[in-house]
Amino acid sequence: MTAKPIVSPKFPADLLQNRLPHHIAVIMDGNGRWAQRRGLPRIMGHQRGVDTLKSLLRCCNDWGISALTAYAFSTENWGRPLEEVEFLMTLFERVLRKELKEMMEENVRIRFVGNLASLPASLQEEIDRSMADTQNNTGIQFTVATNYGGRQEIVHACQAIAQKVEAGLLKTEEIDETVLEKHLYTAGLSYPDLLIRTSGEMRISNFLLWQMAYAEIYVTPTLWPDFDQAELHKALLDYQQRERRFGKI
Ligand code: FPP
Repeated sequence: MTAKPIVSPKFPADLLQNRLPHHIAVIMDGNGRWAQRRGLPRIMGHQRGVDTLKSLLRCCNDWGISALTAYAFSTENWGRPLEEVEFLMTLFERVLRKELKEMMEENVRIRFVGNLASLPASLQEEIDRSMADTQNNTGIQFTVATNYGGRQEIVHACQAIAQKVEAGLLKTEEIDETVLEKHLYTAGLSYPDLLIRTSGEMRISNFLLWQMAYAEIYVTPTLWPDFDQAELHKALLDYQQRERRFGKI
């Protein structure tokens, strides 16, 4: 199988540059089905999914979108067959090792969010290295949710806040949305304006529950490995038709 060509895309004339989402989140669903439909093992779908993610990241960076967050592995994904979980962990590690140089050249800032301490030690090392090396880059903020669950993230934040209250560093009445936000894995990151989910399911699946309060949701039947530049273009055109009211009239 040949990798998809990665081109430096021109900004489409029918999109309004000043009405782009600042932050796009993606649920990359359909890798397994993509492979199965071709009589391939599911892992080939994940392999191909990496090429798609890479093209999307480059396209977002080129088009001036400031943040992209991808749901790579949920806390529920440990329930998959062991060989698929092991493949994914090795894939993340391999991709990080291989792509770090290009991410530096393309000025990408990478960050991982989730319960990272439970990941294999060798993957944690690559994660730490990639975050440290790219921390001063000024291009797109690329966040990878790995061993991530939205409810777990909120519980984790509550525990951290409770510890501060116990230690006398914070008063109960001082706890507000800003304090909670600062204790999320995503602290300091803007909220997603647009969530793209591939392969047709109309669910959030425990992804960025707090952060997604006002995100526009775009669901496409396209399977993740087929989500190319034209598909992103379609999602952005759809987004630009939306009127975002944030609860106001
Ligand atoms: C969902 O498809 C996809 C995943 C659980 C894994 C996605 C991970 C990648 C594309 C790799 C990203 C790599 C890095 C380093 C960021 P599925 O298996 O649920 O598909 P199905 O619904 O058709 O079964």
